[in-house]
Amino acid sequence: GTSMTEPVVIAIDGPSGAGKGAVTQHLAQRTGFQVLDSGALYRLTGFAARLDGLELSDAPSVAAVARGLNVRFVPAQSGHEPFEVMLRGVDVTDSIRTDQAGVDASTVAALPMVRAALGDRQQAFRQAPGLIADGRDMGTVVFKDALVKIFLTASAEIRAERRYNQLKNKDMDVSLAALLESIQARDARDSNRAVAPLKPAEDAVVIDSSGMPLEAVHEAIWAVVSKVVT
Ligand code: DC
Repeated sequence: GTSMTEPVVIAIDGPSGAGKGAVTQHLAQRTGFQVLDSGALYRLTGFAARLDGLELSDAPSVAAVARGLNVRFVPAQSGHEPFEVMLRGVDVTDSIRTDQAGVDASTVAALPMVRAALGDRQQAFRQAPGLIADGRDMGTVVFKDALVKIFLTASAEIRAERRYNQLKNKDMDVSLAALLESIQARDARDSNRAVAPLKPAEDAVVIDSSGMPLEAVHEAIWAVVSKVVT
């Protein structure tokens, strides 16, 4: 159908660790909308490509993995994540959240063939009563006609600290300095790639959450969303 009749989309874009995941879950609770974690699709693609023993630079093969991803998102009853992620029938919820999986995701995400392969899959999440889409290019490329576009950011130092605390809570062994370096490298790769680089859409509302408690971030975003979504 035409975009007039399609379910509305709220796009939440921004760099890694800005709090998009928490904001997305909060908005999903308040609106009852569906959720797309597009980063998870890139993480799954990198993870599955490694399982298959592929070179992550082998674009046609990695794109074939992306097209054929056998994945299910199962709403979780408990735990740190809102969804359990099943790849080829195996629970990979935690395996795709490691820092290495993030780096691999960012690497395969720079391949135009992989982005094209994941395009249709992302569109399929657009279902009634509406969609909260979390990613890097939701408002600029995948859902250009999104009703609301938020670009959520924060300083690299603050994002590294948040990620550090998240991983610590999962008993993962990490160093703050290594995470900061990794976040800066990922920002550079995501922002400088030729296809769908990380940047705010022209019509995005930019929110810098550095120094804002999560509650305040939620309220700032709800103030924007509630104006147009009831
Ligand atoms: O949001 P995340 O950290 O799970 O995303 C992992 C990587 O996937 C991120 O570094 C870049 C890539 N990505 C992308 O290129 N486009 C998206 N819409 C979402 C993620």
